[in-house]
Order: sequence, then C-alpha cells, then structure tokens
Amino acid sequence: MSSLLRTLLCGLALTIAATAAVADDGLWMPQQIPQLGDELRKRGLQLDPKQFADLTGFPMGAVVHLGGCSASFVSPQGLIATNHHCVYGALQFNATPQNDLVKNGFLAKTMTEEVQALPDARVYVTTNIEDVTAQILAKMPASDEERAKTITRRRREMINECEKAGGTRCLVASYFDGAQYLRITQMEIRDVRLVYAPPLGVGNFGDEIDNWMWPRHTGDFGFYRAYVGKDGKPADFSRENVPYQPKHHLKISTRDLDPGDLVFVAGYPGVTERHSVALEVEHDEAYDLPTAIRYRQLLNDVLQARGKDNRDIALKNASRIASLENYLKKYTGTLESFRSIGVLEAKRKEEAAIRAAIANDPKLTAEYDAAFGELTKLLNEQSATRERDTVFGWLYTASPMLSQANTLYRLSQEKTKADLDRADDYTERNRKRLAASMTRTRRSIEPGSDRAGLRLFLLEAAKLPANQRIKPVDDALAATGATGTEAQVDALLDKLYASTNIGNADIEKAMFEETTEQLLARKDSMLDFAASLRKFGAENDRRNLARAGALSRIRPVILNALRVTRGGRLYPDANSTLRVAFGTVEGYAPRDAVRFAPQTDVRGILEKDTGVEPFNSPKKLLERARAKEFGTYADPELGSMPVAFISTTTVTNGSSGSATLNAWGELNGLAFDMNWEGVGADYVVDPDVTRTIHVDSRYMLWVMDAVDGAHNVLRELGMKPVF
Ligand code: ARG
Repeated sequence: MSSLLRTLLCGLALTIAATAAVADDGLWMPQQIPQLGDELRKRGLQLDPKQFADLTGFPMGAVVHLGGCSASFVSPQGLIATNHHCVYGALQFNATPQNDLVKNGFLAKTMTEEVQALPDARVYVTTNIEDVTAQILAKMPASDEERAKTITRRRREMINECEKAGGTRCLVASYFDGAQYLRITQMEIRDVRLVYAPPLGVGNFGDEIDNWMWPRHTGDFGFYRAYVGKDGKPADFSRENVPYQPKHHLKISTRDLDPGDLVFVAGYPGVTERHSVALEVEHDEAYDLPTAIRYRQLLNDVLQARGKDNRDIALKNASRIASLENYLKKYTGTLESFRSIGVLEAKRKEEAAIRAAIANDPKLTAEYDAAFGELTKLLNEQSATRERDTVFGWLYTASPMLSQANTLYRLSQEKTKADLDRADDYTERNRKRLAASMTRTRRSIEPGSDRAGLRLFLLEAAKLPANQRIKPVDDALAATGATGTEAQVDALLDKLYASTNIGNADIEKAMFEETTEQLLARKDSMLDFAASLRKFGAENDRRNLARAGALSRIRPVILNALRVTRGGRLYPDANSTLRVAFGTVEGYAPRDAVRFAPQTDVRGILEKDTGVEPFNSPKKLLERARAKEFGTYADPELGSMPVAFISTTTVTNGSSGSATLNAWGELNGLAFDMNWEGVGADYVVDPDVTRTIHVDSRYMLWVMDAVDGAHNVLRELGMKPVF
C-alpha cells in the first residue's frame, strides 16, 4: 500500500468517528457507514449501522444495479421496483403504434404475460467488495502511458480470475480518483422481464416541463422481474427460466412519513464532480456545458421533427429524445446554479483553504503544488482540441448506424489481439453483451433520422478551426467532388446511405463474425467510412491513455490534501458503485419570500391536469382523487393522498430508482430526480437548496390498487387490495 493511500484511509477511519455532525451531502461507501453510526442513531436510525457493511445481508442485499439505473428487490419472487423512466426503454422496445405501451403502460396479470425487457437488460447484485489497491499500484512504470496500460492489465487479470468460477460479473473500480481500487463481485442476471408500468400520464406526468423541478407530481415507478435458470444460476432469456429468489427483499411501507423524518437512499450514483478543481469548473462553464446544450438541442429538434406526424418513427426515437431532453435541461439548470450557488467561487475558496491547511507541512505543500501544476497543464492541453474531439464524438451519437459500423469494424480488429490486450467492450467476456446491445440499437434505427442527425455534425466538422480538423471527414467531403460545404455533405450522405447494409439484422450478425478483410471486401459505404474514421479515433485513444495514466498519479495527491483540509471526512466521488446517502424530509426556499413544502399530494395533480400531454392523468385517477377515494393510503397530516416528497439526501444520474428507506429500513419511496435549484450538486452541494425528489410508496400502492387494478403486483408486495 502506498504511504499516500495509508494516510488517506487511516485518516478516514479515525476522524469520521471523532467528528460531530454528518452532513447530508455524503455518497458513502457501505463499508464507511458503521463509522457514522452514533450520529445516525441520534438521528433516529433503527437499524444497526453495522448492517450496511454486510452486502449480502439486509438491507443492502436487496439493492441492485440495472446498469444505468438503480433498483431493489421487493418480493421473494425477484420482483424489482425502479423508476418509470428506467423501464421506459423496455416499454419502447416492446411498443408498436397498435400496442402503444409507452402511452398506455403495461401490466402482466400473470407471470406468463411478462415480456423480455430488453435484450441487454441486466440486474447486478453486489455480493462482495475487497480492497486490491496494493496489487493494482505495486511497482508502477515511470511512463504515464505504461502506467495506464499496467493498471488496465492488472484490473483485467483480477477480473478474469474473479469471473473464472462462472455466474459472476466482476469489476475493479477506482475510488478517490485512483487512490484506492476495490474489486467488486456481482451476480449478473441476464433474463429481465417487464412486469408493470403505469400509463405515461402517471409515470411521466409533467414530462420536460416538470423534469428537474419541485413541486412534482410524477408517479415515476415501474416493476421488472429477474429470472434465472432452474439451477438458480443466471441464464440467457428463456421461457424455461424461473423467478430469481433473492435472499433479501425490501418491505414496501405504508407507514406515515413526515417532515423531519430520517430517510436514506441506497443505490448506484453514476458520476459526480465534487472533487474536481476550479479550472475544470471553468472549462465546463465556458465550453463543455454550453456545447453539450447546443448540440443536444440541434439533434433533438431534428429527431422531434422526424416523428411529428409519424408515431412509428416517434417510437423509434423515443428513448434518444428522452435522454437528449433530460440532459439538455439538466445542463441548463447546472449553468444556472453555477451562478446562483456560486460553484466556481466555492471551488476557488476550497483551493485557498487547502493551501492554508497544508501550509505548515512543506513536503505536502510541495507535492500538492507540483501535482496542481501538472494537472493545470494537462487540462489546458486537453481543452486545446476540445472542439474537434467533441464533434468527433457526436458523429457517433448522432448516427447509431455509424456507431454500429464502427463497432463491427473495431470488433474485427480487436479480435486479432490477445484477449487481455483488447479494448474492454471487445473482450470475450463482453461478447454476448456487445451482441445484445447491437440488437437493441438496431431495433430503433430509423435511416431518415440517422441521416438527418449525421448531417448536423458533418456540417459542424466542416466548421472546425484550421488547427483542429478531422482529416478523414475532410477527405471524404473532398472526394465527393461537389462544390460548397452543404453540397459536399449531402453528396457524402447520399453515398453513405445508398449502399450500406447496416441495420439489416441478418447481415449485421454475419458481419459480427467476420475479419477486417472480409468486412472491407463487402464495400459497404458506412463500414468504409467508419474504418477511415477509426484511424483518427485510435490516435485520440492513445493520447487519452497517457492522460489517464498521468491523472491516476496526480489526482490522489490533490485529494490527499483535500482530505487533510476536511479533517479526514471524505467520501469518494460517485463512480457507479453502491452508495448510501442519509438525510431528512425537508422543504426549502427557492428564492426570496418563497418556501416549498416537502410533500405534494393529489390536489396538485388536479390543479395541473389539462387532459393534454404531458398533463394528462388517467380519467380514473382524476375521479378517485376528486372523490377522495384514498383507501388506506392517505397521509393523516396532509389529509390527502401523498404523491412525492423531497429530502436533503443527494443523488445524481444513475441513482434513479434507488430505494428510499425509512428509519426501519422499509421502502418508503423511490428517488427519481434532483431539484432545479440544487442541480449544481454534482459539483458543489448547497445544503440550503440541494434536494432529492422521491415518489412516495403510498402513491405507488394507491395507483396500483385504485387506478390500474394491478392487484396481482400489490399482493406480491404483501398488500391486500382495498379497491
Ligand atoms: N431527471 C430524471 C433523471 O435524470 C429523469 C426524468 C425522465 N423524464 C423525462 N421527462 N425526461 O433521473
């Protein structure tokens, strides 16, 4: 173990216990929770804090990852609760204009009616976490590129060893920006089925108008079921499979929830930037975020127009549009909260505080200054080609067909290498997953949208400054012989879409097995273009590798100084691994003289409903709400049916669907969003305004019982229907 790591970890263990209040911004690793125990008990936690460190026990054993979203087991028969927007892709995949599951929702009345969610849908159950830092970082080579390669290779070796027994999926995740490496063992369930999702007018009530906003009235929930082979082991989708029986599941709560109550969120937050430096915030504010907004807007407009009068096309693009709009709005809000909560100033202050805190330690100061200088140089280097690199990435985002072609071409190249030397997606252990994700992408390819999207970014590429050209694009445009940029772009597009078989399932499946020579002999226009772009991409990859190596060396030094400054209390930035956040149900003041209550109820639905998307609640819901038919689910203090609530916990993308538990460890709701004023929390948490938005479990039960007649699901949750 490096001495740096030792100080980092020892400091962590000792000082957490000694320090008084636990701030609510934490995204704690489960193994850190016991150290917060006294404080959490004082705040009302009824569980033993030690329980959190036991990943296969209750409640952590019930918390699962879906890849991009979080979820939890809620019945002994593998029933899984998550957000509506997390099952949206599965609704889209199974929808047709005649059987529009996206609009109408879905309910399997029996298990045989459940449908495969998505070919690449997965459920991961974390079963073990072990520290492998010493093995990963032992005797590092001097060159940064070699350092990155060594880390990758060691990670891969450890993963392979861990997966040897079969049935498990392992990863080696980096924590504290590369100061610590943990190997995580997971059970990977590959047969995932759609059980139930309410109609769009519940699950996505308010859509983009309300997205990222409080007060909220969205019933953002849905259910999957995990299936395994008869032997209890993960298996490919098959009607022979049986429901997975988890060791633990969460009990859905009908207990009252009030302002001031302790809640905690367990899930898999994706990425946060809380430990990034001021210069990164500056770059994000000046370029990354505005560009991310502008490009998403461009592509979104084009996709919206394509589907405007054609439900079939609209359904094909539905998930891409939802994602584009979601981040479009998030990044707009992030820029706004950069100003309103002063993110850059907070980062600058933090850097000044770090320098002050380590000033009396000349060795630490020298290390910090050296690392900081190097980081600054690296970040500036990186931003020197940012326009070009950004456009290059968007070519593939805008054109799933180009992306499929690129995958096939790269696969043919990577196949020739030893497995240990291949890029991760192309290793043998990822072969099935790669094929499944290609199948999913193929199902939503719409050549007209694809072409319109690619056109946007070829035009952007043509506008790049002289010192940031993408040569293969320039060459392809020049080769058309047309005059004028637009004419060249259109001529290139004519050629690309006229003679390609990308999108054809049988041909793509054959291509999946072919060598590079065989692929190129097909003279497929899209494949040939992908091949020409790949040389440029490979050059970028090499540069990024050296950069990654340098960062894995530099960042832990900077983080160590931050740890000293914080008196040891530091949790790692989110990295898509299992975390727990604690907080209380609490409102906030979004602006002068305005105070938001922490709970909404169905009166708000009646106020917002217009009968027109996105404020179109089901008729039955409106009737029941007007008649105050709440069964046993109403909130005594509200005197109404609660819908959503907010808490001082923090989440980010990837946390969606996270179990929200009360002090007893019962499922009181699902986290589904951040709030507008607090959306900058990915960078800096302002406790006055940062909130998580959750759907209330009592609303979920009421919708199932009183509106959708999902009595079979309700019974499986251990409830007796009252309607
Ligand atoms: N903002 C939510 C999240 O990122 C997603 C909401 C999805 N709904 C939508 N209208 N796009 O988790």
